Amino acid sequence: MDRLKGKNTIITGAAGGQGKVACRMFAAEGARIFASDIVADAAAEIEALAPGAITYLAADVTRPEGIRAIVDGASKAFGGRIDVLYNNHGVILGKPFLETTLEEWDRVHNVDLKSVYFLSQRAVPAMPAGSSIINISSVGGLVAMQNMSAYSAAKGGVAMLTRGMALDLSSRKIRVNAIALSAIDTPMPHNFLKDLPDKEGIWNDDASLRPAARGRHDGDFSRQRRIELHDRQRGRGGRRLERFLSQPFFIAGRGVQLSSVNP
Ligand SMILES: NC(=O)c1ccc[n+]([C@@H]2O[C@H](COP(=O)([O-])OP(=O)(O)OC[C@H]3O[C@@H](n4cnc5c(N)ncnc54)[C@H](O)[C@@H]3O)[C@@H](O)[C@H]2O)c1
Repeated sequence: MDRLKGKNTIITGAAGGQGKVACRMFAAEGARIFASDIVADAAAEIEALAPGAITYLAADVTRPEGIRAIVDGASKAFGGRIDVLYNNHGVILGKPFLETTLEEWDRVHNVDLKSVYFLSQRAVPAMPAGSSIINISSVGGLVAMQNMSAYSAAKGGVAMLTRGMALDLSSRKIRVNAIALSAIDTPMPHNFLKDLPDKEGIWNDDASLRPAARGRHDGDFSRQRRIELHDRQRGRGGRRLERFLSQPFFIAGRGVQLSSVNP
């Protein structure tokens, strides 16, 4: 289990549902981790996930000083070399298109898209050939779902940004990939639902998730680890997505992984 042995890794959104899992999994493979999240008091909990392998720093990725603190802090902790940047942080908004405010749009786009651009931009000078940037997109950034237009636009932006970064960074032999996840039972989908009326109806009504929802799902969100909305994207829907993206990609787990330039 040493596939990441000695790899100096930044993991953002580390105090979130998937961030904690990523910290454990990267550490189990031998990575050294500089973990960060906006949560101020998470150091003890996150560092305890893999004692000795993780250093935690609270920082806001939407603030230039937060970006500097994360990248410069990691670079210092790692002796100047960063091998992996795992851009996992994110926020969601469950709001109809006509009700979304300018402030809400800005918040979602600052956290989900703009920060990925500038965090990566600051990290790259410390990343040697062979290093890797992984951006967390979303199936919601590839296909439309109701009440998700601002988040979808940001995560679709992450998918496209990934391609642009991959091309621009190929001469440095830095790989850039995005993972477009499907629904996973972390705080995020509950945050999506919290301001929407008829929460159960949203998951039980295929029409509300069209065109993404073409597979089965039982609507019982709280007891499911993953909602099985995207089963059929492995088959017919997958080919439709492939045409839509006009780039190579493959289905990973219940989500979609966008493969980019692989020097
Ligand atoms: N859970 C899902 O169903 C799902 C589906 C598709 C994609 N994703 C993506 O997966 C990633 C991880 O999400 P999750 O499911 O673990 O959700 P989560 O809400 O548990 O974690 C997100 C983390 O990002 C952090 N964060 C938010 N704003 C920040 C800021 N300004 N600065 C620093 N950190 C900030 C939060 O504090 C939180 O810990 C996100 O990018 C999300 O968009 C999640």
